Amino acid sequence: VKKSNVVSSILGKHWQQAPQNAVGKAFAPTNIALCKYWGKRNQELNLPLTSSLSISLGNKGAFVELTRQDGEHDIVILNGQPVASDASFYKKLVNFLDLFRPQNAMRLRADIQSNIPIAAGLASSACGFASIAMALNDLFGWQLNTTELSILARLGSGSASRSIEPGFVEWQAGSREDGMDSYAVSLSETWPELCVGLLIVSEREKILSSREAMQRTVESSALYPAWPAKVSHDLVELKQAIANHDFALLGKAAESNATTMHATMLSAWPAIQYAVPETLLAMQTVWKLRSEGLALYFTQDAGPNIKLLFEKHNVATIQSHFPQVEILQPFKKGKHI
Ligand code: DP6
Repeated sequence: VKKSNVVSSILGKHWQQAPQNAVGKAFAPTNIALCKYWGKRNQELNLPLTSSLSISLGNKGAFVELTRQDGEHDIVILNGQPVASDASFYKKLVNFLDLFRPQNAMRLRADIQSNIPIAAGLASSACGFASIAMALNDLFGWQLNTTELSILARLGSGSASRSIEPGFVEWQAGSREDGMDSYAVSLSETWPELCVGLLIVSEREKILSSREAMQRTVESSALYPAWPAKVSHDLVELKQAIANHDFALLGKAAESNATTMHATMLSAWPAIQYAVPETLLAMQTVWKLRSEGLALYFTQDAGPNIKLLFEKHNVATIQSHFPQVEILQPFKKGKHI
């Protein structure tokens, strides 16, 4: 099954038709997985081997404006700066746009504004592809529902399937070969006191994309076979924690899910390690503070930075131990702390 088969079956007669509007606009939040997506059963369609569960970061994410463009090339602008046509982000984006527009007929200008620290490498492809899918829906006038948008965003990047919805989101792995049952569903619960602290310990470029890292892990790690069972276990705990606002359970499930994911990478060959010394120091600080009674946990993705998990009543304590932390409240509208 090819990406274009999925797109044509979702869009039906609207596929590759001219847009109804001159401009398409959308915002999508970035998301942080509490239970990670790590490993694919299909590389072409970004179909995961397991389900995953994330939290969307409120008003932190990407705004995009798509406009029709004369000329021969697409134009991609990120935070006011043109993206070079040989950059991998440019190529990924143009390949994605090619899935939808009339063949050879139409160039686009994509103006993307992101309000998440670029250096944090915070799932920028997640909110990027989710916002592009939503803006295309606006431009073409398709009137797709969130399930369909989630499937389309997934074709750009797996984690983008979860950025279509706010709050807690579960991406159901599904089992169909065409992936029509692999999309994100939002959980109805909210948790206004929940805070996420972004701890940027290094601004260096990623050593390896998550795409390559997960594939290498699936192919070579002796620990990977244990991963699906770990995910099933953590998903049960996370849903229970969310339903009961049990913060200790949420933190434990999220942190141990992340450390287990990184253990599968460390046992891949060649080994993959995203942590730098500052990452390990931050983890040790979290463990020390927790042993002293502070309800503080962390998660880490395919990069050296750490995301702290805690509740609002501990904000001042967290700030005193991590002066550089940027604190977000995923369920709060408007300004963050
Ligand atoms: C560690 O969604 O970036 O952040 O589907 O290949 O584009 P592709 O991968 P991507 O992987 C994200 C991996 C992760 C965990 C997660 O967000 O669940």
